[in-house]
Amino acid sequence: MVTERHVTLVTSDTEETRWLGRVLGQALTGAMFIGVRGFLGVGKTVFVKGIADGLGMSDDVTSPTYTFVAQHHAGRRCLTHVDLYRISQVDDLESIGWLDLILEADVIAVEWVDRADQQVPDMRIDVELVASSSDRRHISFWGHGAMACAIIDQVVAGQADIS
Ligand SMILES: Nc1ncnc2c1ncn2[C@@H]1O[C@H](COP(=O)(O)OP(=O)(O)OP(=O)(O)O)[C@@H](O)[C@H]1O
Ligand SMILES: [Mg+2]
Repeated sequence: MVTERHVTLVTSDTEETRWLGRVLGQALTGAMFIGVRGFLGVGKTVFVKGIADGLGMSDDVTSPTYTFVAQHHAGRRCLTHVDLYRISQVDDLESIGWLDLILEADVIAVEWVDRADQQVPDMRIDVELVASSSDRRHISFWGHGAMACAIIDQVVAGQADIS
C-alpha cells in the first residue's frame, strides 16, 4: 500500500489554480487536513476557494487573516479555513484552539501551515505553490497516509482535463 506520494502540477492562470482546488475538493469524501504553503500572494486562497467549490460550497471564501478561522458549510460537509499568517508563537496556536480545530474538523485547509510549528496530523495532504512567472504556478502535493495518496491519485487523474 502506497503511504507517501509526491506530484507537481502546473497551472497557467488563476482560474486553473481554482479549478485544481476544485478537483481536490471533489475527491475529499471524508475528513482531511490540507496544509497550504507558499509566499505572500502566490495563490493559496485561490486554491482554497477551489476546494470550497469542489465541496459544493457557494460562500465567498476569503483569507481569514485577522480572524484566523472561518467555516463554510454545504449539506453535511464543513470546510474549516485557517490562515496562520499572523501567528508568531506557539501560545497563539493554543489561543485559537489549534489542536481541537484539527481533531474536530471535517476538511481543514490551513494557509501558512509552516507557522504551525509542525503540530500537524500524520495523515494529511501538503500543498506548496511556487510562482514561476506572473501567472504560472508549480503546485506540489505530498500525500502522507494511504487515504491522502489515493486522493492525490484522483487529483492527477482529474487534472488531465486542464491542458
Ligand atoms: N496561476 C495562478 N494561480 C493562482 N493565483 C494566480 C495565478 N496567476 C495569478 N494569480 C493571482 O495571484 C493572486 C493570488 O492571491 P491569493 O490571495 O490567492 O494569494 P495568497 O497566497 O492566499 O496570499 P496571502 O499570502 O496574502 O494569503 C491573485 O491576485 C491571483 O489572481
Ligand atoms: Mg491567502
